[in-house]
Amino acid sequence: KQRGRPTTSDEVIVTAGAKQALNMTLLSFLEDGDEVIFPNPGYPPDEVWARYAGAKIMHTPLTKPNWQFDIEKLEHMITPRTKLLIINTPQRPNGHLVENLEGIAEVCLKHKQLMVISDEIFSHIVYDGKQHKTISALPDMAERTIVIDTFSKTYAMTGWRIGWAAAPKPIIEKLSIFLQDSITNIAAFIQKAAYAAMVGPQNWVERKTQILQKKRDKMVAGLNSVPSIRCDTPSGAFYAFPDITGTGLTSQEFTDRLLKAVGVAVVAGTAFGSQGEGYVRVTYATSDEDINEGVKRIRKANLNDIATV
Ligand SMILES: Cc1ncc(COP(=O)(O)O)c(C=O)c1O
Repeated sequence: KQRGRPTTSDEVIVTAGAKQALNMTLLSFLEDGDEVIFPNPGYPPDEVWARYAGAKIMHTPLTKPNWQFDIEKLEHMITPRTKLLIINTPQRPNGHLVENLEGIAEVCLKHKQLMVISDEIFSHIVYDGKQHKTISALPDMAERTIVIDTFSKTYAMTGWRIGWAAAPKPIIEKLSIFLQDSITNIAAFIQKAAYAAMVGPQNWVERKTQILQKKRDKMVAGLNSVPSIRCDTPSGAFYAFPDITGTGLTSQEFTDRLLKAVGVAVVAGTAFGSQGEGYVRVTYATSDEDINEGVKRIRKANLNDIATV
């Protein structure tokens, strides 16, 4: 309702985290030879299930520097076998919001067989007064979208393994059979805890987002103080995705050598798709001391020397 997609109880299913909702949806929709479009860079665990179902994985390159869908390219990729399009906003791994949801919806509505999985797990971690938007709130898109979210990020309940999907009733009925035949249900006490988190005072969530925004600013400023690294300011999630091409290293070389030389762990951008080459993913969901120390070590590392480690 808050997102502009009013939902009845028979349009929702509670799952073991967003991962299970993604897994069940992909396995329920896809058959051998179907096609599914993933953003590149994106969230690779989803691809495992698409592959398992025998589907063909198509990657749509997001355009730099803001990592947006190229609507024209997207349109050209769609065939009669394209069943699913995955959107993730705010995005992993780069933290940007998907801005051109209207264009994506327009493309989607031209193709009757095409459904959207909208992975909105960072829906409550959005900065600078911006608002999270769901494609499911756009005209005629509620019928074409499976919205997936989780308690893992908003309420830091990752270990509780609870999330949900909202979709038209026939889809939820299908997913319910899957849930029943796999893990049966999410334990009632976990559902009660999640309910308490959801209906209780939300000032903790707001405060956490304010704190994360300050950490984001610290991380982005710190990374930009390193010669040969350029980092833009993401609007959500808790990741920065700096451009490291100035070091002359590949993402994997940078990642391996940085760890070896100064003990700082980042993830190579290529772990999220080929378009991540030249970037690394850094998280700032950690203490200010660790952010300062990590940046200090990266700055001191003398990146040219790292290249020879
Ligand atoms: C984009 C994305 N989708 C889904 C998940 C899985 O979330 P959950 O812990 O709810 O299974 C993650 C976890 O980080 C993620 O980054």
